[in-house]
Amino acid sequence: MSLTRSRAREPIELRRFAGHVDHEEQLSHLRIAHLTDQHFGRVTPHAVQQAAIDLTNAQKPDLVVITGDFVCHSQEFLDELEESLALLDAPVIGVLGNHDHWSGATAVRRSLRKAGVEVLDNAHTTITLRNQQLQVVGLDDAYTGHADSDLATKGLRRDLPTIGLSHIAEEADRLWELGVPLVFSGHTHAGQVTLARMHEIFLGKLIGHKYVHGLYGCRTRQLGPKGALYVGAGIGAAVMPLRLGERARREVAIFELGAKAGAAWEHHREQPALKGRPPSEKTKEKRKRQLEKKKRKHPPEAE
Ligand SMILES: [Fe+2]
Repeated sequence: MSLTRSRAREPIELRRFAGHVDHEEQLSHLRIAHLTDQHFGRVTPHAVQQAAIDLTNAQKPDLVVITGDFVCHSQEFLDELEESLALLDAPVIGVLGNHDHWSGATAVRRSLRKAGVEVLDNAHTTITLRNQQLQVVGLDDAYTGHADSDLATKGLRRDLPTIGLSHIAEEADRLWELGVPLVFSGHTHAGQVTLARMHEIFLGKLIGHKYVHGLYGCRTRQLGPKGALYVGAGIGAAVMPLRLGERARREVAIFELGAKAGAAWEHHREQPALKGRPPSEKTKEKRKRQLEKKKRKHPPEAE
């Protein structure tokens, strides 16, 4: 674990982990960098975004995966998003988050593609890295009702090493069942305030998240969860930039696929899931109305 400080004096934590036992058996070694919730916009200084890109490049990853919320509330910062992501030295694969849908998914996707990012909307792709094939499954955003795990995994090969991307972490439960052993996600910003376990109280008990920050599930084939999940703390913020507590710090996570889980250099081990509470039908309806309202603000023709 190490810490880098951007010109804006914003600490960005670097946390390292091994992959799943499937990767150990199927790969020699691949380094994946995981970024999430960059929220390009007014709340997150450009210097922080640049520091995150620099820190990621310095790790020399074979692949960068980004799990959504590229923007905040508008399309105003798409140029900055495009310019920053184009600076990443490795191939980049991403999925959208709720803020991307709220701000205009078509425009965000267009910018990502211009920056060289492969966007997966309920689909999977196979990429060859250092002469090894890796399958990447990408779910569209579940918060806004766009995720379809069955469609995303249709035709998935069980004999290839695989990882999954989903903005919302709770989708991992289903993706594990469908043959995705390690899922990366975001959305929670680690609660942004993790002192006195406030993040678990707020996001777990009040909002109903099972997974708040860090590693969950199981990377071996023991009884219990059928896969593993990493919830990134994210880089940016959409409303309030405050981040308090070690776990809440802005973060780049590095996964060494092919390494054995449990080594001393890992930041932490799998944590038990919180009780969680799936969104009710009433909540889903409310989110649908929220999306429609925001879509009226960013109609497709304006994208
Ligand atoms: Fe976010």
